[in-house]
Amino acid sequence: MTATPSSAPPTADLLARLADLLGPSGILTETTDTAPYCTDWRSLYHGRAAAVLRPATTAELARAVALCAGAGVAMVPQGGNTSMVGGATPDESGRDIVVCLSRMNRVRQIDPLDHTMDIEAGVTLKAAQDAARAAGLMLPLSISSEGSAQIGGVLATNAGGNNTVRYGNARELVLGLEVVLPDGSVFNGLRRLRKDNTGYALRQLFVGSEGTLGFITSAILQLQPQPRAVEAALCAVADAGAALALFSAFRAQDPALIQAFEYMSGAGMDLVTRLVPGTSLPLAEPAPAYVLVELATPRRDADLRTVLEDVLAAMFESGTVSDAVIAESEGQRLALWKLREEHAEAQRRAGASVKNDVSVPVSRVPELIARASAACTALIPGIRPAPFGHIGDGNIHFNLVQPEGMDPAAFLAQDHRIMDTVAAIVRDLDGSFSAEHGIGRLKPYMMPGWRGGAELATMRRIKDAIDPHGLMNPGALFPPAG
Ligand code: MLT
Ligand code: ZN
Repeated sequence: MTATPSSAPPTADLLARLADLLGPSGILTETTDTAPYCTDWRSLYHGRAAAVLRPATTAELARAVALCAGAGVAMVPQGGNTSMVGGATPDESGRDIVVCLSRMNRVRQIDPLDHTMDIEAGVTLKAAQDAARAAGLMLPLSISSEGSAQIGGVLATNAGGNNTVRYGNARELVLGLEVVLPDGSVFNGLRRLRKDNTGYALRQLFVGSEGTLGFITSAILQLQPQPRAVEAALCAVADAGAALALFSAFRAQDPALIQAFEYMSGAGMDLVTRLVPGTSLPLAEPAPAYVLVELATPRRDADLRTVLEDVLAAMFESGTVSDAVIAESEGQRLALWKLREEHAEAQRRAGASVKNDVSVPVSRVPELIARASAACTALIPGIRPAPFGHIGDGNIHFNLVQPEGMDPAAFLAQDHRIMDTVAAIVRDLDGSFSAEHGIGRLKPYMMPGWRGGAELATMRRIKDAIDPHGLMNPGALFPPAG
């Protein structure tokens, strides 16, 4: 049985010892200072924290964790605070301590021969990408929140994103990991080996564990060669079926060229162009749906533009694509990506929304979108389905924006009804209720129904073995035991 969180509030003595250890820039205790760490990006959770710790080194963190563990105080790891599922927000009790590694923000080394990056947890994903690029390499992980999301959180949640179709999820990039365990001991697995067959691959246990097993403090990530050529196009299509026909056409040409293949509904695109300044549709007229395809290669001799134009010409011919624009400059490529990356922000501006980050076998995406749209519209007339996302991975963000004029709180009060309606269809299509955002505090209630029996029981046994007092990120991932 998972230990029920029975954490203690930190005493004044513990806070004083932590302040001694971490120094003035390493601890925040004033409510005005801790407040930004107590609400999630979506504003779904509003908690309180007894303190926010900001250690500068692994050794400092390890000592701080040992002090908290000794006092039975619960700890909530937080990276860039960009979780979509409330994965890093303390509860309302005011007993938890939030721990942020943003001061551990060094790219320690990039090895051009090993193609590896040795990096600390507090580096933002964007800064990590930039560092790899400056060294002539590429960190092939890209998500909408990359300007704020930090490596520690990206790994703790096994982030997916736009390049998974080619390079896999965060998990696939991790060669080595350093973790401070819940008792303050340090697991140093910072190895840069392609082959290391020495028992359990412990690092993979921490990737995707959502801060429930320890603090990821640094990692060795695999890099890729920097592409020499990149081509991107925005294509107008009738529906997800046409989007998949286009995907098949590019794959038939050369699957190794597809760096991203993203789907957007007409409704989602409309919200972006209306609500996000600096965006506009670069096509003659709006379409029912869109694909943003990006091809890239490190090869010197590849004529990517010809590949792109040939496939699009054939797809015009067959009627699969009705219009398309190819980026003619880096600025235009970024403008096309902005239309995709601002989907979450546009939906936030449109009012309350319910997110279903689901996956199904790629072939079943069209059925998912059609059935879930019909079911949700029947459930709440006026609801605005705005599905988009990583169709090349079968991962759709089946997001629903509240009906115009409805009270946001009244809409959000129905989130379980909506999520369960979509989940029932996803289950029928052999999919998953959480493809890349994880479980956080939003979805533990779904775990018994989806991952119950031996699977959840094994996860609980692992949690109990590593964090026997339930001090790490209480409330996240696991439903209350019982
Ligand atoms: C994205 O791919 O932009 C996200 O994961 C955001 C979302 O689900 O809203
Ligand atoms: Zn996504």
